[in-house]
Amino acid sequence: MVCSCLISSLLLLLVSSSISPSYSFKIKSASFLSPKQVMTPGSVTDPHLFDIDFPRGHIGIKGFDAEVVDEDGNPVPLHETYLHHWVVHPYYVRKGFNLSQLDLDLPRNDLLGSSPDYIPIRNGGLCGNRVRHYFGLGSETRKTSTYVPDPYAIEIGNPEETPDGYEFKWLLNIHAIDTRGVVDKQGCTECRCDLYNVTVDEYGRALEPGYKGGLYCCYDKTQCLVRKGFEDGDKTRTLYLKYIVRWVDWDSSVLLPAKVYILDVTDSWEPSEGSTGDIQEHFCHVEYDVEPCTTSGDGCVDVRTKSLMIPFNGYIVYGVAHQHAGGLGAALYRADGEGICSSMPKYGNGHEPGNEAGYIVGMSSCYPKPVKVTYGETLTLEFNYSNVVGHTGVMGLFYILVAQQLPEPESSLQAHAKSVSFLALLAVTVVVVVVAVVVLIAAVVYRRQNREDGYQSLST
Ligand SMILES: *[C@@H]1O[C@H](CO)[C@@H](O)[C@H](O)[C@H]1NC(C)=O
Ligand SMILES: *[C@@H]1O[C@H](CO)[C@@H](O)[C@H](O)[C@H]1NC(C)=O
Ligand SMILES: *[C@@H]1O[C@H](CO)[C@@H](O)[C@H](O)[C@H]1NC(C)=O
Repeated sequence: MVCSCLISSLLLLLVSSSISPSYSFKIKSASFLSPKQVMTPGSVTDPHLFDIDFPRGHIGIKGFDAEVVDEDGNPVPLHETYLHHWVVHPYYVRKGFNLSQLDLDLPRNDLLGSSPDYIPIRNGGLCGNRVRHYFGLGSETRKTSTYVPDPYAIEIGNPEETPDGYEFKWLLNIHAIDTRGVVDKQGCTECRCDLYNVTVDEYGRALEPGYKGGLYCCYDKTQCLVRKGFEDGDKTRTLYLKYIVRWVDWDSSVLLPAKVYILDVTDSWEPSEGSTGDIQEHFCHVEYDVEPCTTSGDGCVDVRTKSLMIPFNGYIVYGVAHQHAGGLGAALYRADGEGICSSMPKYGNGHEPGNEAGYIVGMSSCYPKPVKVTYGETLTLEFNYSNVVGHTGVMGLFYILVAQQLPEPESSLQAHAKSVSFLALLAVTVVVVVVAVVVLIAAVVYRRQNREDGYQSLST
Protein backbone atom coordinates (compact mmCIF):
# COMPACT_ATOMS: atom_id res chain seq x y z
CA MET A 1 0.00 0.00 0.00
CA VAL A 2 2.60 2.52 1.13
CA CYS A 3 4.74 1.47 -1.77
CA SER A 4 2.18 1.89 -4.54
CA CYS A 5 1.07 5.21 -3.03
CA LEU A 6 4.63 6.44 -3.11
CA ILE A 7 5.04 5.34 -6.71
CA SER A 8 1.88 7.04 -7.93
CA SER A 9 2.63 10.31 -6.16
CA LEU A 10 6.13 10.31 -7.59
CA LEU A 11 4.74 9.63 -11.05
CA LEU A 12 2.28 12.49 -10.59
CA LEU A 13 5.15 14.79 -9.69
CA LEU A 14 6.99 13.71 -12.81
CA VAL A 15 3.99 14.32 -15.06
CA SER A 16 3.27 17.79 -13.71
CA SER A 17 6.88 18.85 -14.20
CA SER A 18 6.97 17.58 -17.76
CA ILE A 19 3.76 19.40 -18.76
CA SER A 20 5.01 22.71 -17.37
CA PRO A 21 6.27 25.13 -20.09
CA SER A 22 9.03 23.45 -22.00
CA TYR A 23 11.07 26.63 -22.43
CA SER A 24 12.84 27.78 -19.36
CA PHE A 25 12.84 31.56 -19.58
CA LYS A 26 11.11 34.10 -17.44
CA ILE A 27 8.97 36.69 -19.21
CA LYS A 28 9.12 40.13 -17.64
CA SER A 29 6.63 42.87 -18.24
CA ALA A 30 6.57 46.60 -17.62
CA SER A 31 4.09 49.37 -18.35
CA PHE A 32 5.13 52.88 -19.42
CA LEU A 33 3.43 56.19 -20.22
CA SER A 34 4.49 58.34 -23.17
CA PRO A 35 5.11 62.05 -22.66
CA LYS A 36 1.72 63.76 -22.32
CA GLN A 37 -0.26 64.91 -25.34
CA VAL A 38 -2.60 67.88 -24.91
CA MET A 39 -5.62 67.72 -27.22
CA THR A 40 -8.72 69.78 -28.00
CA PRO A 41 -11.73 68.85 -30.17
CA GLY A 42 -10.64 68.35 -33.79
CA SER A 43 -6.92 68.60 -32.98
CA VAL A 44 -4.21 66.29 -34.29
CA THR A 45 -1.06 65.23 -32.50
CA ASP A 46 1.70 63.48 -34.45
CA PRO A 47 4.95 63.98 -32.50
CA HIS A 48 8.21 62.05 -32.82
CA LEU A 49 9.26 61.39 -29.25
CA PHE A 50 12.91 60.53 -28.77
CA ASP A 51 14.52 58.51 -26.01
CA ILE A 52 11.32 57.06 -24.58
CA ASP A 53 11.28 54.78 -21.54
CA PHE A 54 12.03 51.21 -22.51
CA PRO A 55 13.57 48.09 -20.93
CA ARG A 56 17.36 48.36 -21.31
CA GLY A 57 20.07 45.87 -22.04
CA HIS A 58 20.43 42.84 -24.27
CA ILE A 59 16.87 41.50 -24.38
CA GLY A 60 14.38 39.60 -26.50
CA ILE A 61 10.99 41.27 -26.98
CA LYS A 62 8.01 38.92 -26.57
CA GLY A 63 5.18 41.43 -26.98
CA PHE A 64 4.35 45.12 -27.27
CA ASP A 65 0.86 46.41 -26.53
CA ALA A 66 -0.43 49.97 -26.32
CA GLU A 67 -3.55 52.10 -25.85
CA VAL A 68 -4.53 55.71 -25.25
CA VAL A 69 -5.38 56.62 -21.65
CA ASP A 70 -6.39 59.84 -19.91
CA GLU A 71 -4.82 61.56 -16.90
CA ASP A 72 -6.45 59.12 -14.51
CA GLY A 73 -5.24 56.14 -16.51
CA ASN A 74 -8.70 55.36 -17.93
CA PRO A 75 -8.80 53.97 -21.48
CA VAL A 76 -10.09 56.55 -23.97
CA PRO A 77 -12.53 55.30 -26.63
CA LEU A 78 -11.73 55.61 -30.33
CA HIS A 79 -14.84 57.72 -30.99
CA GLU A 80 -13.30 60.42 -28.77
CA THR A 81 -9.62 60.04 -29.63
CA TYR A 82 -8.98 58.11 -32.81
CA LEU A 83 -5.60 56.39 -32.73
CA HIS A 84 -4.48 56.56 -36.34
CA HIS A 85 -1.24 54.78 -35.44
CA TRP A 86 1.60 54.47 -33.02
CA VAL A 87 4.98 53.21 -34.16
CA VAL A 88 8.19 52.44 -32.28
CA HIS A 89 11.71 51.81 -33.52
CA PRO A 90 15.22 51.94 -32.09
CA TYR A 91 18.07 54.21 -33.16
CA TYR A 92 21.67 55.00 -32.34
CA VAL A 93 22.57 58.52 -31.30
CA ARG A 94 26.05 59.96 -30.85
CA LYS A 95 26.79 60.27 -27.15
CA GLY A 96 26.10 63.79 -25.85
CA PHE A 97 24.01 64.76 -28.88
CA ASN A 98 20.64 66.36 -28.09
CA LEU A 99 18.16 64.95 -30.59
CA SER A 100 15.13 66.94 -29.53
CA GLN A 101 17.06 70.07 -30.50
CA LEU A 102 17.63 68.64 -33.96
CA ASP A 103 13.92 67.89 -34.15
CA LEU A 104 13.18 71.59 -33.79
CA ASP A 105 15.80 72.69 -36.30
CA LEU A 106 15.36 70.34 -39.21
CA PRO A 107 12.39 69.24 -41.30
CA ARG A 108 11.38 65.74 -40.36
CA ASN A 109 12.41 64.19 -43.68
CA ASP A 110 16.01 65.15 -43.06
CA LEU A 111 15.84 64.19 -39.45
CA LEU A 112 14.45 60.76 -40.13
CA GLY A 113 17.18 59.93 -42.58
CA SER A 114 20.50 59.05 -41.03
CA SER A 115 23.13 61.60 -40.13
CA PRO A 116 26.50 61.26 -38.39
CA ASP A 117 24.65 61.97 -35.13
CA TYR A 118 21.57 59.84 -35.60
CA ILE A 119 21.27 56.37 -37.14
CA PRO A 120 17.77 54.93 -37.24
CA ILE A 121 17.43 51.16 -37.00
CA ARG A 122 14.80 49.90 -39.43
CA ASN A 123 12.87 46.68 -39.68
CA GLY A 124 14.13 44.29 -42.35
CA GLY A 125 11.22 44.98 -44.73
CA LEU A 126 11.26 46.36 -48.23
CA CYS A 127 10.07 49.94 -47.66
CA GLY A 128 13.34 51.39 -46.38
CA ASN A 129 12.96 54.69 -44.56
CA ARG A 130 9.27 55.02 -45.35
CA VAL A 131 8.22 52.19 -43.01
CA ARG A 132 10.83 51.62 -40.37
CA HIS A 133 8.98 50.51 -37.27
CA TYR A 134 9.66 47.45 -35.15
CA PHE A 135 6.28 47.65 -33.43
CA GLY A 136 3.22 49.56 -34.57
CA LEU A 137 -0.55 49.37 -34.77
CA GLY A 138 -3.52 51.70 -34.95
CA SER A 139 -7.12 51.60 -33.76
CA GLU A 140 -6.83 47.78 -33.58
CA THR A 141 -4.23 47.97 -30.83
CA ARG A 142 -6.48 46.82 -27.95
CA LYS A 143 -7.52 43.47 -29.41
CA THR A 144 -4.53 42.39 -31.47
CA SER A 145 -2.18 39.75 -30.16
CA THR A 146 1.46 40.80 -30.47
CA TYR A 147 2.87 37.79 -28.60
CA VAL A 148 6.01 36.44 -30.24
CA PRO A 149 5.68 32.64 -30.22
CA ASP A 150 8.17 30.53 -28.24
CA PRO A 151 11.07 29.96 -28.54
CA TYR A 152 11.44 33.10 -30.68
CA ALA A 153 12.02 36.66 -29.55
CA ILE A 154 12.99 39.92 -31.24
CA GLU A 155 16.60 40.42 -30.23
CA ILE A 156 17.40 43.97 -29.16
CA GLY A 157 20.36 45.84 -27.73
CA ASN A 158 23.17 43.39 -28.45
CA PRO A 159 26.08 45.45 -27.07
CA GLU A 160 28.39 44.09 -29.78
CA GLU A 161 26.28 45.80 -32.44
CA THR A 162 26.26 49.32 -30.97
CA PRO A 163 28.86 51.46 -32.78
CA ASP A 164 31.56 53.01 -30.59
CA GLY A 165 30.61 56.42 -29.26
CA TYR A 166 26.89 55.85 -29.77
CA GLU A 167 23.95 55.05 -27.53
CA PHE A 168 20.98 52.81 -28.27
CA LYS A 169 17.56 54.45 -27.78
CA TRP A 170 13.91 54.23 -28.84
CA LEU A 171 11.65 56.57 -30.78
CA LEU A 172 7.85 56.67 -30.49
CA ASN A 173 5.56 58.35 -33.00
CA ILE A 174 1.92 58.71 -31.92
CA HIS A 175 -0.65 59.90 -34.43
CA ALA A 176 -3.95 60.68 -32.70
CA ILE A 177 -7.00 62.66 -33.84
CA ASP A 178 -9.44 64.15 -31.32
CA THR A 179 -12.85 63.66 -32.94
CA ARG A 180 -15.03 65.08 -30.14
CA GLY A 181 -17.48 67.53 -31.70
CA VAL A 182 -16.24 67.17 -35.27
CA VAL A 183 -18.60 67.60 -38.21
CA ASP A 184 -17.63 64.29 -39.86
CA LYS A 185 -15.92 61.60 -37.76
CA GLN A 186 -15.14 59.28 -40.67
CA GLY A 187 -13.85 62.20 -42.74
CA CYS A 188 -11.56 63.35 -39.91
CA THR A 189 -10.21 59.86 -39.20
CA GLU A 190 -9.61 59.36 -42.95
CA CYS A 191 -7.78 62.69 -43.02
CA ARG A 192 -9.88 64.32 -45.73
CA CYS A 193 -8.05 67.48 -46.80
CA ASP A 194 -11.21 69.61 -47.16
CA LEU A 195 -12.16 68.98 -43.50
CA TYR A 196 -8.68 70.01 -42.39
CA ASN A 197 -8.66 72.98 -44.77
CA VAL A 198 -5.18 71.92 -45.82
CA THR A 199 -3.64 72.61 -49.23
CA VAL A 200 0.06 72.21 -48.38
CA ASP A 201 1.92 69.44 -46.56
CA GLU A 202 3.73 69.96 -43.28
CA TYR A 203 6.80 71.36 -45.04
CA GLY A 204 4.68 73.89 -46.93
CA ARG A 205 4.81 72.02 -50.25
CA ALA A 206 1.65 72.06 -52.38
CA LEU A 207 -0.28 68.78 -52.33
CA GLU A 208 -0.34 66.73 -55.50
CA PRO A 209 -3.34 67.55 -57.69
CA GLY A 210 -6.23 65.22 -56.90
CA TYR A 211 -4.92 64.34 -53.42
CA LYS A 212 -8.14 64.12 -51.42
CA GLY A 213 -7.01 62.76 -48.09
CA GLY A 214 -4.39 60.95 -46.08
CA LEU A 215 -1.30 61.57 -43.99
CA TYR A 216 -0.32 64.75 -45.88
CA CYS A 217 -3.51 66.45 -44.63
CA CYS A 218 -3.63 65.48 -40.93
CA TYR A 219 -0.10 66.13 -39.70
CA ASP A 220 0.88 67.46 -36.29
CA LYS A 221 -1.16 70.53 -35.18
CA THR A 222 -3.66 70.47 -38.04
CA GLN A 223 -7.32 70.94 -37.06
CA CYS A 224 -10.38 69.07 -38.28
CA LEU A 225 -13.65 70.95 -38.74
CA VAL A 226 -15.77 71.01 -35.55
CA ARG A 227 -19.39 71.88 -34.86
CA LYS A 228 -20.44 75.15 -33.30
CA GLY A 229 -19.63 75.20 -29.61
CA PHE A 230 -16.51 73.08 -29.93
CA GLU A 231 -14.22 75.70 -31.51
CA ASP A 232 -13.11 77.57 -28.43
CA GLY A 233 -10.67 74.96 -27.18
CA ASP A 234 -12.00 74.82 -23.61
CA LYS A 235 -12.40 71.05 -23.76
CA THR A 236 -8.69 70.49 -23.44
CA ARG A 237 -7.65 67.06 -22.25
CA THR A 238 -4.34 65.46 -21.51
CA LEU A 239 -3.67 62.01 -22.90
CA TYR A 240 -0.90 59.46 -22.88
CA LEU A 241 -0.01 56.40 -24.86
CA LYS A 242 0.31 53.63 -22.32
CA TYR A 243 2.53 50.83 -23.59
CA ILE A 244 3.31 47.46 -22.10
CA VAL A 245 6.49 45.68 -23.10
CA ARG A 246 7.01 41.98 -22.44
CA TRP A 247 10.58 40.71 -22.71
CA VAL A 248 13.14 38.16 -21.62
CA ASP A 249 16.82 38.61 -20.87
CA TRP A 250 18.67 37.42 -23.96
CA ASP A 251 19.85 33.83 -23.65
CA SER A 252 20.93 32.19 -26.87
CA SER A 253 20.73 28.74 -25.30
CA VAL A 254 16.92 28.93 -25.06
CA LEU A 255 15.89 31.71 -27.51
CA LEU A 256 15.95 31.95 -31.29
CA PRO A 257 15.98 35.43 -32.85
CA ALA A 258 13.08 36.46 -35.09
CA LYS A 259 13.26 39.59 -37.22
CA VAL A 260 10.53 42.06 -38.17
CA TYR A 261 9.76 42.53 -41.89
CA ILE A 262 6.99 44.80 -43.12
CA LEU A 263 5.51 44.47 -46.61
CA ASP A 264 3.26 47.11 -48.20
CA VAL A 265 0.50 46.49 -50.74
CA THR A 266 1.24 49.97 -52.22
CA ASP A 267 4.88 49.07 -52.93
CA SER A 268 5.85 50.28 -56.43
CA TRP A 269 8.13 47.29 -57.09
CA GLU A 270 7.67 45.39 -60.36
CA PRO A 271 9.70 42.41 -61.52
CA SER A 272 12.32 43.33 -64.09
CA GLU A 273 15.37 41.85 -65.75
CA GLY A 274 18.15 41.58 -63.19
CA SER A 275 16.19 42.94 -60.25
CA THR A 276 17.66 41.98 -56.92
CA GLY A 277 14.70 43.03 -54.77
CA ASP A 278 16.97 45.55 -53.08
CA ILE A 279 15.39 48.38 -51.06
CA GLN A 280 16.40 50.95 -53.71
CA GLU A 281 14.01 49.23 -56.13
CA HIS A 282 11.03 49.89 -53.84
CA PHE A 283 8.89 52.90 -53.16
CA CYS A 284 6.11 52.38 -50.62
CA HIS A 285 3.23 54.83 -50.86
CA VAL A 286 2.02 53.53 -47.46
CA GLU A 287 -1.55 54.72 -48.08
CA TYR A 288 -4.10 54.57 -50.89
CA ASP A 289 -7.66 55.55 -51.73
CA VAL A 290 -10.61 53.22 -52.26
CA GLU A 291 -13.09 54.54 -54.81
CA PRO A 292 -16.79 53.89 -54.15
CA CYS A 293 -18.20 51.05 -56.21
CA THR A 294 -20.46 51.86 -59.12
CA THR A 295 -22.64 48.79 -58.78
CA SER A 296 -24.41 48.26 -55.48
CA GLY A 297 -24.77 45.37 -53.07
CA ASP A 298 -22.54 42.50 -52.06
CA GLY A 299 -20.00 42.84 -54.83
CA CYS A 300 -18.59 46.06 -53.46
CA VAL A 301 -15.15 44.85 -52.44
CA ASP A 302 -11.94 46.55 -53.41
CA VAL A 303 -9.29 43.83 -53.77
CA ARG A 304 -5.72 45.04 -54.05
CA THR A 305 -2.83 42.67 -54.57
CA LYS A 306 0.93 43.06 -54.87
CA SER A 307 3.53 40.45 -55.67
CA LEU A 308 6.97 41.04 -54.24
CA MET A 309 10.25 39.23 -54.63
CA ILE A 310 11.52 38.25 -51.21
CA PRO A 311 15.20 39.13 -50.72
CA PHE A 312 15.81 36.97 -47.65
CA ASN A 313 15.66 33.40 -46.36
CA GLY A 314 13.90 32.24 -43.25
CA TYR A 315 10.77 30.96 -41.61
CA ILE A 316 7.63 33.02 -41.02
CA VAL A 317 6.44 32.39 -37.45
CA TYR A 318 3.96 35.27 -36.96
CA GLY A 319 1.96 37.67 -39.12
CA VAL A 320 -0.58 40.46 -38.72
CA ALA A 321 -2.01 43.03 -41.11
CA HIS A 322 -2.84 46.69 -40.50
CA GLN A 323 -6.08 47.96 -42.01
CA HIS A 324 -8.26 51.03 -41.51
CA ALA A 325 -12.04 51.12 -41.07
CA GLY A 326 -13.69 49.53 -44.10
CA GLY A 327 -11.08 46.75 -44.08
CA LEU A 328 -12.38 43.23 -44.78
CA GLY A 329 -9.22 41.21 -44.32
CA ALA A 330 -5.77 40.62 -45.70
CA ALA A 331 -3.69 37.62 -46.67
CA LEU A 332 -0.22 36.57 -47.75
CA TYR A 333 0.12 33.89 -50.43
CA ARG A 334 2.82 31.98 -52.25
CA ALA A 335 3.05 32.31 -56.04
CA ASP A 336 1.25 28.95 -56.42
CA GLY A 337 -1.69 30.27 -54.39
CA GLU A 338 -0.84 28.44 -51.17
CA GLY A 339 -1.98 30.57 -48.23
CA ILE A 340 0.68 31.49 -45.69
CA CYS A 341 -1.16 33.79 -43.33
CA SER A 342 -4.39 35.73 -43.15
CA SER A 343 -5.37 38.51 -40.79
CA MET A 344 -8.99 39.53 -40.33
CA PRO A 345 -10.43 42.67 -38.71
CA LYS A 346 -12.67 42.63 -35.65
CA TYR A 347 -15.21 45.46 -35.54
CA GLY A 348 -16.65 46.79 -32.32
CA ASN A 349 -20.38 46.89 -31.70
CA GLY A 350 -20.69 48.97 -28.53
CA HIS A 351 -19.54 52.19 -26.98
CA GLU A 352 -16.82 51.25 -24.51
CA PRO A 353 -13.04 51.28 -25.18
CA GLY A 354 -12.02 48.14 -27.06
CA ASN A 355 -15.50 47.66 -28.54
CA GLU A 356 -16.30 50.90 -30.38
CA ALA A 357 -18.95 50.38 -33.07
CA GLY A 358 -17.76 51.06 -36.61
CA TYR A 359 -14.07 50.92 -35.72
CA ILE A 360 -11.56 48.12 -36.23
CA VAL A 361 -10.75 47.20 -32.63
CA GLY A 362 -8.50 44.22 -33.38
CA MET A 363 -6.83 42.25 -36.16
CA SER A 364 -6.39 38.50 -35.90
CA SER A 365 -2.72 37.51 -35.84
CA CYS A 366 -1.53 34.33 -37.43
CA TYR A 367 0.83 31.83 -35.84
CA PRO A 368 1.56 29.46 -38.71
CA LYS A 369 3.53 26.29 -38.41
CA PRO A 370 6.82 27.94 -39.47
CA VAL A 371 6.61 28.68 -43.21
CA LYS A 372 9.88 28.52 -45.10
CA VAL A 373 10.57 31.39 -47.51
CA THR A 374 13.50 31.40 -49.87
CA TYR A 375 15.50 34.26 -51.36
CA GLY A 376 14.14 35.16 -54.79
CA GLU A 377 10.72 33.64 -54.17
CA THR A 378 7.64 35.75 -54.93
CA LEU A 379 4.97 36.29 -52.28
CA THR A 380 1.65 38.00 -52.90
CA LEU A 381 -0.20 40.36 -50.59
CA GLU A 382 -3.97 40.75 -50.83
CA PHE A 383 -5.90 43.51 -49.05
CA ASN A 384 -9.69 43.80 -49.19
CA TYR A 385 -11.74 46.88 -48.37
CA SER A 386 -15.45 47.47 -48.59
CA ASN A 387 -16.13 50.16 -51.19
CA VAL A 388 -19.82 50.63 -50.52
CA VAL A 389 -18.54 54.10 -49.65
CA GLY A 390 -15.17 55.53 -50.71
CA HIS A 391 -12.21 55.84 -48.34
CA THR A 392 -9.11 58.03 -48.36
CA GLY A 393 -5.73 57.20 -46.86
CA VAL A 394 -6.32 53.53 -46.07
CA MET A 395 -3.35 51.24 -45.47
CA GLY A 396 -2.22 47.77 -46.43
CA LEU A 397 0.79 46.84 -44.34
CA PHE A 398 1.61 43.23 -43.56
CA TYR A 399 3.90 42.66 -40.59
CA ILE A 400 5.74 39.35 -40.36
CA LEU A 401 8.29 37.84 -37.99
CA VAL A 402 10.95 35.72 -39.68
CA ALA A 403 13.29 33.35 -37.88
CA GLN A 404 16.60 32.30 -39.43
CA GLN A 405 16.56 29.01 -37.64
CA LEU A 406 14.00 26.60 -36.29
CA PRO A 407 14.29 24.68 -33.08
CA GLU A 408 15.56 21.30 -34.31
CA PRO A 409 13.01 18.53 -33.76
CA GLU A 410 15.34 17.27 -31.04
CA SER A 411 16.79 20.69 -30.36
CA SER A 412 19.47 20.73 -27.73
CA LEU A 413 16.93 22.37 -25.45
CA GLN A 414 14.18 19.79 -25.85
CA ALA A 415 16.67 16.94 -25.98
CA HIS A 416 18.14 18.32 -22.81
CA ALA A 417 14.69 18.60 -21.20
CA LYS A 418 13.88 15.06 -22.38
CA SER A 419 17.14 13.59 -21.13
CA VAL A 420 16.60 15.37 -17.82
CA SER A 421 13.12 13.93 -17.44
CA PHE A 422 14.34 10.51 -18.62
CA LEU A 423 17.11 10.60 -16.03
CA ALA A 424 14.62 11.72 -13.40
CA LEU A 425 12.32 8.85 -14.34
CA LEU A 426 15.24 6.43 -14.19
CA ALA A 427 16.34 7.78 -10.80
CA VAL A 428 12.82 7.60 -9.42
CA THR A 429 12.40 4.07 -10.74
CA VAL A 430 15.67 3.01 -9.16
CA VAL A 431 14.70 4.63 -5.85
CA VAL A 432 11.25 3.08 -5.95
CA VAL A 433 12.66 -0.35 -6.79
CA VAL A 434 15.32 -0.05 -4.10
CA VAL A 435 12.71 1.10 -1.56
CA ALA A 436 10.40 -1.72 -2.63
CA VAL A 437 13.20 -4.27 -2.37
CA VAL A 438 14.28 -2.92 1.01
CA VAL A 439 10.69 -2.95 2.26
CA LEU A 440 10.23 -6.45 0.88
CA ILE A 441 13.46 -7.74 2.42
CA ALA A 442 12.60 -6.02 5.70
CA ALA A 443 9.15 -7.59 5.62
CA VAL A 444 10.54 -11.04 4.83
CA VAL A 445 13.23 -10.71 7.46
CA TYR A 446 10.68 -9.41 9.96
CA ARG A 447 8.25 -12.22 9.22
CA ARG A 448 11.01 -14.80 9.32
CA GLN A 449 12.25 -13.33 12.62
CA ASN A 450 8.68 -13.37 13.90
CA ARG A 451 8.28 -16.94 12.78
CA GLU A 452 11.58 -17.88 14.35
CA ASP A 453 10.57 -15.95 17.44
CA GLY A 454 7.25 -17.70 17.36
CA TYR A 455 8.93 -21.02 16.82
CA GLN A 456 11.42 -20.26 19.52
CA SER A 457 8.69 -19.09 21.81
CA LEU A 458 6.79 -22.19 20.94
CA SER A 459 9.85 -24.28 21.57
CA THR A 460 10.44 -22.70 24.92
C1 LIG B 1 17.75 69.20 -25.39
O1 LIG B 1 16.91 70.06 -26.14
C2 LIG B 1 15.66 70.31 -25.54
C3 LIG B 1 14.82 71.10 -26.51
O2 LIG B 1 15.48 72.21 -26.99
C4 LIG B 1 15.89 71.03 -24.21
O3 LIG B 1 14.65 71.27 -23.59
C5 LIG B 1 16.75 70.15 -23.32
O4 LIG B 1 17.03 70.81 -22.12
C6 LIG B 1 18.03 69.77 -24.02
N1 LIG B 1 18.75 68.80 -23.21
C7 LIG B 1 20.06 68.87 -22.97
C8 LIG B 1 20.63 67.77 -22.13
O5 LIG B 1 20.75 69.76 -23.41
C1 LIG C 1 -9.05 77.79 -44.61
O1 LIG C 1 -7.75 78.29 -44.80
C2 LIG C 1 -7.71 79.58 -45.41
C3 LIG C 1 -6.27 79.98 -45.60
O2 LIG C 1 -5.47 78.91 -45.89
C4 LIG C 1 -8.45 80.57 -44.53
O3 LIG C 1 -8.49 81.83 -45.16
C5 LIG C 1 -9.86 80.10 -44.25
O4 LIG C 1 -10.49 80.95 -43.33
C6 LIG C 1 -9.82 78.68 -43.67
N1 LIG C 1 -11.18 78.17 -43.51
C7 LIG C 1 -11.63 77.67 -42.37
C8 LIG C 1 -13.03 77.16 -42.38
O5 LIG C 1 -10.95 77.61 -41.36
C1 LIG D 1 -10.81 39.21 -50.80
O1 LIG D 1 -11.95 39.24 -51.62
C2 LIG D 1 -11.93 38.27 -52.64
C3 LIG D 1 -13.14 38.54 -53.55
O2 LIG D 1 -14.30 38.74 -52.79
C4 LIG D 1 -11.95 36.89 -52.02
O3 LIG D 1 -11.89 35.91 -53.01
C5 LIG D 1 -10.75 36.75 -51.10
O4 LIG D 1 -10.78 35.53 -50.42
C6 LIG D 1 -10.71 37.88 -50.08
N1 LIG D 1 -9.47 37.81 -49.32
C7 LIG D 1 -9.40 37.96 -47.99
C8 LIG D 1 -8.06 37.90 -47.37
O5 LIG D 1 -10.39 38.15 -47.28
